Amino acid sequence: MNRKQLVVGNWKMNGSLSDNEALLDGLAVADGLSELDISVCVPYPYLAQARERLAAGIISWGAQNVSEHDAGAYTGEISGSMLADFEVSFGLVGHSERRSFYADDNELVGIKARKLLNVGITPIVCVGETFKQREAEETFGIISAQLEAVIERIGLENLGRIVLAYEPVWAIGTGLTASPEQAQEVHEYLRGQVALLDEAAARSLRILYGGSVKPDNAEKLFRQADVDGGLIGGASLNLIDFLTICRLAT
Ligand code: 13P
Repeated sequence: MNRKQLVVGNWKMNGSLSDNEALLDGLAVADGLSELDISVCVPYPYLAQARERLAAGIISWGAQNVSEHDAGAYTGEISGSMLADFEVSFGLVGHSERRSFYADDNELVGIKARKLLNVGITPIVCVGETFKQREAEETFGIISAQLEAVIERIGLENLGRIVLAYEPVWAIGTGLTASPEQAQEVHEYLRGQVALLDEAAARSLRILYGGSVKPDNAEKLFRQADVDGGLIGGASLNLIDFLTICRLAT
């Protein structure tokens, strides 16, 4: 199956109105990338700016989180329908920084994925193990539990509507990257788990790798059979690096 590769930039809590201009305008005019899907998940306050600057081009924009509620007295939260107002294509759920700093547990991640689907936004469901869990050979158990909780909430009928991202916690922002073989092993496992439930969904499922992806290691990762693109943190804040990584995915 030839899955269209997807490269997503996760800006995390970085940027400013003025700094974003050059980055977004550079992305808007980048050419030679039409074989790819590309998106940038910007902080909430910059969604309007991303929409304004990217709308005419091929690159979409996304959010980094969503509330588990629809509306009401939830100070500081942002609902799925608010994101839909800004024509967001993708929303991250279950990022390890959310899981560790904001107590987003497996069940909450599943609920958030569902909220995004309810408003037509594609959830990018992040899964991954810590270094300690890998050392203890718990990787497959941990990521299966993370995946199962999401499937339970979204329902089998929606398996074909999500993107998965394997982000080993020990590789995020550390400069350590999973080897292409380690990434492939986990991606293949994840696809296999989905295939047990829905073979067609497994074949079309896009599984991104994230964790210190840089221009000098992206190509080997993207060449793996079950790696369908990347979720890029630090390197997505640099226009040249991000575009170089995108080109390596074509
Ligand atoms: P880095 O690419 O900075 O390691 O971040 C990965 C990540 O967390 C993307 O969501």
